[in-house]
Amino acid sequence: MSAVGIRVEHVSKRFSHRVKGLVYAVQDVSLTVQPGELLTLLGPSGCGKTTTLRMIAGFERPDAGRVFIGEQDVTDLMANQRNIGFVFQNYALFPHLTVFENVAYGLRVKRMDGAEIATAVHDVLQMVGLAGYDRQFPNQLSGGEQQRVALARATVIRPRVLLFDEPLSNLDAKLRVHMRRELQQLQKQLSITAVYVTHDQEEAMAISDRIVVMSQGAIAQEGTAESLYRQPASEFVAQFIGRTNLLTARVLSVEADGTVLDVRGVRLTLSGQSPHAQVGRPVRLVVRPEVVGIAGPERAIGLAGVVAARMFLGEKVEYHVRLGDDLVQVTSYNPRNVFAPGDAVTLTLPTEGIPLLPGGTA
Ligand SMILES: Nc1ncnc2c1ncn2[C@@H]1O[C@H](COP(=O)(O)OP(=O)(O)O)[C@@H](O)[C@H]1O
Ligand SMILES: [Mg+2]
Repeated sequence: MSAVGIRVEHVSKRFSHRVKGLVYAVQDVSLTVQPGELLTLLGPSGCGKTTTLRMIAGFERPDAGRVFIGEQDVTDLMANQRNIGFVFQNYALFPHLTVFENVAYGLRVKRMDGAEIATAVHDVLQMVGLAGYDRQFPNQLSGGEQQRVALARATVIRPRVLLFDEPLSNLDAKLRVHMRRELQQLQKQLSITAVYVTHDQEEAMAISDRIVVMSQGAIAQEGTAESLYRQPASEFVAQFIGRTNLLTARVLSVEADGTVLDVRGVRLTLSGQSPHAQVGRPVRLVVRPEVVGIAGPERAIGLAGVVAARMFLGEKVEYHVRLGDDLVQVTSYNPRNVFAPGDAVTLTLPTEGIPLLPGGTA
């Protein structure tokens, strides 16, 4: 069976809120998932991820817009007619059924023959690493094992698409990281189209082919983890994906070979031009902690600051450096850079790899 894509076109969903009245949970969201792709909806709690996923699944009917799976318009189909697999945060296993019967459930509903069911269930249990668990009950399993059962149950029906809603959020940190890889490998092995919901940006970056960042019921930006990290289109995305410092600067001039800025009285030339750079106007610099250089105060050119905090983290050292009102995060991988709180330091910025955003006051 070859993978199918998903198309969500201008969907909206409103709910009535006791205090606020009718509010949009999702407003005019359009997105496309390529066949075989793992697309993640990422954003803070309440931004509309689950509602979007539930509209794809058919658990929620959009007030406006259409949903397509492959070429088929499924907007008016019930969830059980869409042939999708859904994995929830809380596993949602039947507590009174064995692992075998939990996984077999969807096949029994389809009235598949008993011998075929046994083969299909054993195959899928093997695939998720639970061979031999047939007769266990959910309460005899760890959280990770329960989630594997849920995954087996979702995939055994050979769905056209797999939908995940925060599937790893109930697991402890180490297992969560381990299961990420398993989920991703399984999805690629089955080459099944998947939509994955999480509020955890690191998880999203680790498993996704592409990420859609949502904010307040709408899409803030979409792209690969790398493109979102390197070219955030807004302060929201810059701060949500990875860690960042936002420094305000003023544009002094725009030259053929770069943009000349005044950052706290220090001249800095960034190579390239930006649509946000207009002479005399303020801009915001997206400065990732790992691009900032830190040196002693004898280094004359740079931003003068004072170390506020230092955290030794093994392969790297994290500094918080006070620059006037700003606290700048600096990650140093240089073991010879040793500064203590209270030390005067000079920070340097590279001429490349610092995206500009509009705004700020300078
Ligand atoms: N069944 C519902 N009734 C009322 N409001 C809802 C319902 N489902 C979601 N909402 C509201 O819609 C918004 C988006 O919710 P949701 O899609 O669950 O966000 P997320 O999954 O990103 O945390 C929230 O403000 C939430 O309170
Ligand atoms: Mg949710």
